[in-house]
Amino acid sequence: MKVGVVGLGYVGLSIAIVFAEQGNTVIGVEVDGEKIEKLRKGIPTMFEPGIKEHLEKALPNLHISSDYSSLSETKFIYVAVPTPTVDGRIDLSHVEQAAISIKAACPQSVIVIKSTVVPGTAKKISRLTGMDVVSNPEFTREGHAIEDTLHPDRIILGAERQELMDELEALLGFSGAPILKASNEDAELIKYASNAYLATKISYANELAKLCEKVGCDIEVVTLGMGLDKRIGPQFLKPGPGWGGSCFPKDTQALVAFAGDNSSRLKIVEAAIDVNNQMVQHAITLIKEIAGGNLSEKRIGVLGIAFKEDTDDTRSSKSIELIERLFREERAQVNVYDPVAKYSGNCTKYESLSECVANSDIVVVATEWDGFRSALREVEKPILDLRRILDLKEYPGIYAIGLGRKGTGGSPMHSKVTS
Ligand code: UDX
Repeated sequence: MKVGVVGLGYVGLSIAIVFAEQGNTVIGVEVDGEKIEKLRKGIPTMFEPGIKEHLEKALPNLHISSDYSSLSETKFIYVAVPTPTVDGRIDLSHVEQAAISIKAACPQSVIVIKSTVVPGTAKKISRLTGMDVVSNPEFTREGHAIEDTLHPDRIILGAERQELMDELEALLGFSGAPILKASNEDAELIKYASNAYLATKISYANELAKLCEKVGCDIEVVTLGMGLDKRIGPQFLKPGPGWGGSCFPKDTQALVAFAGDNSSRLKIVEAAIDVNNQMVQHAITLIKEIAGGNLSEKRIGVLGIAFKEDTDDTRSSKSIELIERLFREERAQVNVYDPVAKYSGNCTKYESLSECVANSDIVVVATEWDGFRSALREVEKPILDLRRILDLKEYPGIYAIGLGRKGTGGSPMHSKVTS
């Protein structure tokens, strides 16, 4: 099949690569000239494990241009452009602009919206262009973009005409994942509802983590026990400095605003956002406890800048909020280390973890990067483990504390799971 993809960011590039690898002819349209040049040469434009190899395999079938006319005679054209929030509401201008350009170049085609959009958007685009519009939201995680596109848990399609969804099944069926065919509006809401649910799950764990610290429980043990219940499941119960990234913060905000615009309230999602907004302050309180109060003379080493591991993405990263607030509000000297993410704010960036640690009085694990745990094994400094990556019993006599547990020392033996 010949398929178009407009917008080659995280999502667009991942689907373009996977469709091309599956033997389809893929026409990618991208506005950024530098990105086009790099991709044509097989140079990845984002940090993703394994992406270079996949891009190389896809290149013979992947044709990238800035010109919408290259999409001519393409039946399905995916739109994967950004949908930021402006003043708390979704900004659809990039999607609308892409749709108008597709209409001008290829009016007989079908627009497939991959971007995250509020219910009613597909219909709006259809009215704007007079074209058929299918919804096919994405659920890929950064750091797993190719893997999640190849092996999704489910595929959601929404359209007015059933036959368009049946045709798309031929393109998407390679994964063997279950396909739900629904209305455009249901498909659009499924995406928001899923992200908001996951964000809420994390906020619940984070709120419980704070309770654990007060009452002498360990959040790791509590969520382990909760997760063994199949109805709850172990995923997205890991406490941390709060959720960040390009999706959860903007999607939860857009969903709350969308509900408000439709005379509804999503109080649970509002509470999840509220809890999330308090997590960095909580981390600062814990750092101050370790320091015995004032941080103004202290050198704080923050490990991890990215919003999570396996990505260089720093959008809405809680690490950055922590770094800036430590500097501005606590007048601390902040040292940082991250294996791939870059940041040039109010901090000293180190090229090696050991140097960063050596020059710090207190170490804070802010991102769950693989390798931090072993690198910290020999460190004899106060550590605040916001991601609970350390086995605290490996730190006898050292003041290492984890988010969601009281005090220092080893994990209790009775928390082991036996089968
Ligand atoms: C998310 C959704 O998972 C994905 O389905 C959607 O398509 C895009 O948004 P992503 O933003 O890549 O993906 O990150 P994700 O892995 O979901 O993590 C989001 C945030 O939650 C990160 O800051 C992460 O550190 C945090 N998190 C995640 C936790 O604090 N605890 C957890 O248990 C899981």
